Amino acid sequence: FQPRPLVGKKVIVTAGGTKEAIDPVRYIGNRSSGKMGLAMAKVARDLGADVTLITTVDTTLGGINLIKVQTAAELMTQIQSVFPESDVLVMAAAVADFKPINVAEQKIKKNDDEDIFTIKLTKNPDILKTVAATKTNQFVVGFAAETQHLLENAEKKLASKNADVILANNVAQSGAGFGVDTNRMTLLRKNKQPESWPLMSKIDVAKKFWDFYLNR
Ligand code: C5P
Repeated sequence: FQPRPLVGKKVIVTAGGTKEAIDPVRYIGNRSSGKMGLAMAKVARDLGADVTLITTVDTTLGGINLIKVQTAAELMTQIQSVFPESDVLVMAAAVADFKPINVAEQKIKKNDDEDIFTIKLTKNPDILKTVAATKTNQFVVGFAAETQHLLENAEKKLASKNADVILANNVAQSGAGFGVDTNRMTLLRKNKQPESWPLMSKIDVAKKFWDFYLNR
């Protein structure tokens, strides 16, 4: 029995929703709380891993290298600087699919004559896909939050993003959405049957994932 079986492993975890600037005071965000990623980081730390948490969430987690970011672009830069030396990447962050094309230098003022204001968006790169394409020996974990066709969409992600595992959850189900402390996950990997886990706390999901990783 090894109480700290991840000793010597370098683990990167990303958590939380990205914030894409519109102007100096506004951003486009999403409802991700970062709880699932934080749980993955904590459990990895407790199992002895050298954990780097790259996150948009304000947190003070002891025994973890914490890198605070806001945007998808910053997240990408920070991941790329540590990925080559890492053993595992857990991509739990909710990355915005789009960002404003232009970030206004000054606070945008409302115009009394116009009731409609348009922001043009441009696609963010798929970080997971980009980073996983440079994989040497790293074990890469992606997430898939879906509201319908869960398994079908998650299978597609497993293949298209070059991930070793996709942890999928139906965010439309009660107890499994954004912001709550519980999750109901299905683990998918290549050439294996999907494994559905019961509803459990996010900490227990993380324990179950690292247990799977150590015994795979
Ligand atoms: O394509 P979708 O957003 O559903 O995929 C979710 C997975 O891909 C998550 O692991 C998320 O962190 C990652 N992702 C990413 N870059 C994006 C969008 C999603 O790395 N631009």
